[in-house]
Amino acid sequence: MIKKSFAMVALTAGALALGACSGGGREVAASESEGGASGFAADAVIGVSLPWLGTQNWKEAQDLFTTQLTDAGFEPLVQAADNKVPQQQQQIEAMIERGAEVIVVGPIDGTQLGGVLEQAADAGIAVIGYDRLIENTTAVDAVVQFGSIRTGELQGQSLLDGLAASGAEAPYNIELFGGGPADPNAPNFFTGAMSVLQPKIDDGTLVVVSGQTDFTQAATPDWDNAKAQARMDSLLSGNYSDKPVHGVLSPNDGIARAILTASEQAGMDLPVVTGLDAENESLVSIWEGKQWSTVAKPTSDLVGETVELIQALQQGEELPAPDETVANGKKDVAVYQLDPVVVTKDNAREVFADDAARLELLK
Ligand code: BGC
Repeated sequence: MIKKSFAMVALTAGALALGACSGGGREVAASESEGGASGFAADAVIGVSLPWLGTQNWKEAQDLFTTQLTDAGFEPLVQAADNKVPQQQQQIEAMIERGAEVIVVGPIDGTQLGGVLEQAADAGIAVIGYDRLIENTTAVDAVVQFGSIRTGELQGQSLLDGLAASGAEAPYNIELFGGGPADPNAPNFFTGAMSVLQPKIDDGTLVVVSGQTDFTQAATPDWDNAKAQARMDSLLSGNYSDKPVHGVLSPNDGIARAILTASEQAGMDLPVVTGLDAENESLVSIWEGKQWSTVAKPTSDLVGETVELIQALQQGEELPAPDETVANGKKDVAVYQLDPVVVTKDNAREVFADDAARLELLK
């Protein structure tokens, strides 16, 4: 699934030698690459700092980084921070002290790690953002993620497709949910979705009955499913005593299931609900005809792409040209982007044809 070969690394888009970005010892890697020497030891410590283990993708990342880094000969130091920023900062500090050569970070709050990551950069450590952008610091060398605006566009389009397939007549009553506001993905998912939905709100096809159309109103603090369920409870009791809710935009699968539970408990017909992550529980729900869709962003591909970047650095190679650069408030960050895929009951077995564990759920 890796889109670029590191053999073709003859960089076109300017020197992306990591050292040039992070300062410290990494320039050595770039110059050594001409002579074919290593950027750093083949059994180096590689730190991986995950935000929490509250959704399936992060648990998968914890396992896959451990096995893939070990298989590649590195010494992995993989930690998760329970959604607490100070804990994540301490874990990264400990990785610096352990002599990590690369630190991979899925930030809890995209803007709150500048200080500790600058310490890492000063120590010559390369920093790779994983799944989420790292904002407001120059101390990030690359980000590997699924396109976050693209993910939102797919969610918005899938909601429209689900409404069209539902048999209900337009105008459709809908509500909008966003993810945790500290996570830079969450506003991007919402922006992408609204780029598809807003024209349909404007032309009257969709009606957001609560009127809550801003990200700040729709966001779910900390990606907390219980908070989403409480918001859905009050949206239903405040707005839907005399009408159906036909569809709900959900930013991920946990929140999708919370929305469905609230609807069920309120005795409503289940709305068309979108999702993200292709979590096991949601695949079962989709297969049973409850959740309408999810968006798959396979963790194994994302971890694989990240490990390939780490191996290029270890070899002292320059990184390949990124898919795009994104302004993070302090610099233009090289972003390596994979493509997410919409999953409904119709294509689920096809999408997961090579994923035995998920395929097993679809029968
Ligand atoms: C990830 C999603 C995940 C969410 C909550 C986002 O940054 O992209 O896969 O569901 O965080 O953990």
